[in-house]
This record gives sequence, C-alpha cells and structure tokens, in this order.
Amino acid sequence: MIKLIEDGIESALSNYQGIVKDAMAYSINSNGKRTRPKMLLSLLNDLGGNVEEGIHAAVALEMVHTYSLVHDDLPAMDNDDFRRHKPTNHKVYGENMAILAGDGLLSASMNELIKSKLDPKIVVALVEVLSRNAGAQGMILGQEIDIQNDFHSFEELTKSYQLKTGCLFAAALEMAVLIAGRPQLQNSMRDLAYKIGIAFQYQDDILEIENGFELMGKSGDSDTLKDKKTIVSFLGIDEANKLTKDMFDDFSIELEKYPSLKLLLNELLNRKF
Ligand code: IPE
Ligand code: IPE
Ligand code: MG
Ligand code: MG
Repeated sequence: MIKLIEDGIESALSNYQGIVKDAMAYSINSNGKRTRPKMLLSLLNDLGGNVEEGIHAAVALEMVHTYSLVHDDLPAMDNDDFRRHKPTNHKVYGENMAILAGDGLLSASMNELIKSKLDPKIVVALVEVLSRNAGAQGMILGQEIDIQNDFHSFEELTKSYQLKTGCLFAAALEMAVLIAGRPQLQNSMRDLAYKIGIAFQYQDDILEIENGFELMGKSGDSDTLKDKKTIVSFLGIDEANKLTKDMFDDFSIELEKYPSLKLLLNELLNRKF
C-alpha cells in the first residue's frame, strides 16, 4: 500500500516544474507517516473496494495535509523551524516559495481528484468532501480558532481539534466509503474520524512533551513557549494519557468489522512521532 501511495505522489508531482515544484516535493517527500492516505486505502480495502481506485484521492489528501503543514509552520502562523527533523519549507525556500508551494499543493489536490477516472458523480462527491473538510468550515476554521488560543474549557479545545485535525481524517474515511460505493456509511464514518482525529491530536500534545524534538522532529517546546493550551495543560499528563488510551481502546471495538483500519490505528497508538 505504501508503494502505491509513494508512486502516486511521484507521478502527480511530475506535472509541475520550477522552484515551486521543488518546494512542493521537499515537504511531501520528507518522511511523513502518510496516516491519512493509509486510512483512506485501509478502509477502502475493508469495504471490499479496489485500492487502486483510491490512489488519486489518497494522494490528493496527502497534498492537502502537506500544504496545511507548510503554511502552519510559517512565521505568521506557528513560526516553527523544524518539521520531521528537517528545516521547515520556508527555511529552505523562503516564505514566498513556501506560500506558493502550499497553494500549489492545494490546487494540485483538486486536479488529482479529477484525474481519478471514477464515475463523474463520485468525483463530484469527492471534491465536495475534500473541499468541505479542508476549507473554512473545516481545517481552516480549526486553524483560525487555534491561532486565537482563547480556550475557556477542555470541550472548546476538543472542538478545535475536531476541526483542525479531525476534518482531514474525516476526508479520508468519507472518501473511502464513496469510492467503495457505500455512501450510507458516510455520516457514521465521519463521526468516527472526528474522534480519531481528536485522539490523534491529544496524542500529539502528549508526545510533544514526552518525546520532544529528538523523536518528534519538530520543535518540542513550541506549545509551551507559545503558552498554547493543550490537553496536558487542562488535564495534566496522567489524565491526558488515560483519556487518549481509552479512546484508542474504543476504536478497536468499533472497528472490529474493519481489520485493516483497526491495524493502522493500533500502529498509531504506539507511534513515537
Ligand atoms: C501533524 O500530522 C499535524 C497534526 C495534525 C498533529 P502528522 O503527525 O500526521 O504529520 P506527518 O505527516 O506524519 O509528519
Ligand atoms: C497542525 O497542528 C494541524 C494543521 C496543520 C491543520 P499543530 O500546529 O498543532 O501541529 P504541529 O505541532 O505543527 O505538527
Ligand atoms: Mg498550528
Ligand atoms: Mg504547528
């Protein structure tokens, strides 16, 4: 599965040129875990669909994820110098090219969906899913709330995690059910993906403290330095760990019928970065 994803990314990038292409390639090929495309293809497989039919959608989603990180790291946003143990995109290519690389990846993602050669009705539905989850009612709105950093309760923080992280996970599972021809599962899979995204972001807050830069490859002290609210600042480290682990245990039960996705989540539970 990973080979299909990597080949799909390489083939998609071959359409582009110039410094902006190099900047796009730098960030999409820098040891990301490929969690969202793997989720999409795992569920597609579990639903009896043809995994090859999901490649373009999987690549499109990884492009949106990569763009979100390139822009997230910019000085005007989180101002981070490292991602995946490498200098961030703007540190290598400059802020102007990093902005364009993000824009280029977002535009390319729509182009990928259209190239997927699926039934046009499904393609339209995929465009709806990806643009909704990525956009200003989804991930972008989550980023806005994150920047405000004005959380009065743990519930408010969690809602922002649903948006900034859960929505791209929702895009993965929603696109899988559409490609598999099982649209009746779309709402339940979206709700499950929100929960997975929330747990994944809780875990990220915890790993940033427990594992730091050495394992995470991104500025381990950045939340603390920026005085950002996290699950740990609301609940403390022990409670945060317990809640996150309990959520992953629940996913294992909920995913009994979906062995590939269940396996992927088990791997994520034990992730070090
Ligand atoms: C990082 O996502 C941003 C968060 C939502 C926590 P990932 O941890 O999936 O990033 P990569 O692509 O594997 O580096
Ligand atoms: C990144 O969130 C999530 C998105 C880009 C949507 P964070 O800012 O919390 O994640 P890291 O620590 O930079 O990966
Ligand atoms: Mg951020
Ligand atoms: Mg960040």
